[in-house]
Amino acid sequence: MKKKIYEGKAKVLYQGKEPNTIIQYFKDDATAFNNKKKATIPGKGVLNNFISELIMTRLNDINIPNHFIKRLNMREQLVHKLEIIPIEVVIRNIATGSLVKRLGIEEGKILSRPIIEFYLKNDELNDPIISEEHIIVFDWASHEELESIISISQRINDFLTGYFYSQKIRLVDFKLEFGRFWENQEMTIMVADEISPDNCRLWDLQTNEKLDKDRFRQDLGNVDRAYKEVAYRLGVLSEKEFKKVLKNDI
Ligand code: TMP
Repeated sequence: MKKKIYEGKAKVLYQGKEPNTIIQYFKDDATAFNNKKKATIPGKGVLNNFISELIMTRLNDINIPNHFIKRLNMREQLVHKLEIIPIEVVIRNIATGSLVKRLGIEEGKILSRPIIEFYLKNDELNDPIISEEHIIVFDWASHEELESIISISQRINDFLTGYFYSQKIRLVDFKLEFGRFWENQEMTIMVADEISPDNCRLWDLQTNEKLDKDRFRQDLGNVDRAYKEVAYRLGVLSEKEFKKVLKNDI
């Protein structure tokens, strides 16, 4: 029996066999608006496991440190145990979502340069937006760590924008989480969590069709189809596995 460490909205974390490792189990559950809206999207966990594996592996290829070690099976991956920094980093290329709501910016406007925002990871407070000052003064991360988080986020945005573009997908915005990895008394800032259509906005390049969790948030229907489309375009599932997911056979 694996020891459960934590159950979140979309994943369960178990203790890994090796020291300082964690098993991330990807559920089919989806939530939005801080848990007010809930549903199960058949196959979502499998797809996010594969999509996140691919992206984290590519980030590793270009030397962007992240917690991913290896995929274990259809729904689980082994990751490094990190000391999680309690902020969510959002990188935006195109105005939509809360940016449009909060500031009245025109929906779909291409930003003159990417914007980085920070939110406090705190469900009780509804993940409020915060500034760099708050992060430093309240010791959520040091100045040096924050510099590193910003530079990694910019590199990921540049890389993923091109990566998705090559699959005819626009990377509109996305959310990252970070943690501290300790080894031999040395600390490295690493990307944590997952990178998948759950925390990215992905629009079809030609039609602007939404291929991400906004289909669930906005009741647009065909949520599972959109996730499958992303997985298929990225080539993360073999034909055989893709068919199994289509039949909800996992
Ligand atoms: P927002 O426009 O609602 O602030 O979302 C910005 C990006 O962050 C979008 O790609 C969705 C992602 N996101 C999460 O991953 N988790 C969340 O809890 C929220 C609110 C947004």
